[in-house]
Amino acid sequence: MFELRGIHAAYAGTKVLRGVDLVVPPSSVVGLLGPNGAGKTTLLRVASGLLKPTAGQLVVDGKDLTSASPHRLVDHGVCHVPEGRGIFPSLTVRDNLLLQSVKGKENEAAEKAVGAFPRLGERMSQLAGTLSGGEQQMLALARAYVQNPRFVLLDEVSMGLAPKLVDEIFEFLDLLAKTGTSLLLVEQYVTRALAVADYVYLLNRGEVVFAGEPCELDADALAEQYVGAGH
Ligand SMILES: Nc1ncnc2c1ncn2[C@@H]1O[C@H](COP(=O)(O)OP(=O)(O)OP(=O)(O)O)[C@@H](O)[C@H]1O
Ligand SMILES: [Mg+2]
Repeated sequence: MFELRGIHAAYAGTKVLRGVDLVVPPSSVVGLLGPNGAGKTTLLRVASGLLKPTAGQLVVDGKDLTSASPHRLVDHGVCHVPEGRGIFPSLTVRDNLLLQSVKGKENEAAEKAVGAFPRLGERMSQLAGTLSGGEQQMLALARAYVQNPRFVLLDEVSMGLAPKLVDEIFEFLDLLAKTGTSLLLVEQYVTRALAVADYVYLLNRGEVVFAGEPCELDADALAEQYVGAGH
């Protein structure tokens, strides 16, 4: 179980998150929705240990990891796929994968990545920065996958991709969830997110304005949140 309790966060004194409570239960997909600037990326940064909250707690399996480093959170199975992908452009595909794998199990990790995304197999020696946008996104997901994470935090993984690729990526996310990994999914395609999510949180101006199952979310109220952003 991954929990954020009463999280407040700020940048240079400007408050961005105001008392956010969010739970990612085991083997579940949690969608995190909300208009631009709502604080979704900031919340994932707090969840991965990159940004320390000004108040509140980050609890993984009952353990308070609020002051843990991002590295230690990785050891607890928390894996962040950031906005803009977080791969190393000047390294090859293979080296990007090897950096995430356990020593002595590098080949296993590469095979696992190729099993999920065969296209990466044809491009192992290519520099990651020269991959197409979609391939870079696959690599970013594969890097998370080879770590056998328990909780994956995904920030707009479908951004800028053609619908067919988005389908492929969502199929992969579905597979990941079915194999017992929990996902916290920030997604611009609201309908897609609602289709895969077991639970959904709607964030607006740093506060949770809805938490529940997708079927409980009223479409008009949702549209209102997006349209009314910033007012
Ligand atoms: N490094 C930073 N320094 C100062 N302010 C920041 C920083 N990063 C984000 N902010 C501000 O915090 C607020 C929340 O930003 P955040 O990136 O979390 O929103 P978001 O919900 O992910 O939006 P989007 O849908 O556009 O990605 C915004 O007002 C943004 O301008
Ligand atoms: Mg964002």
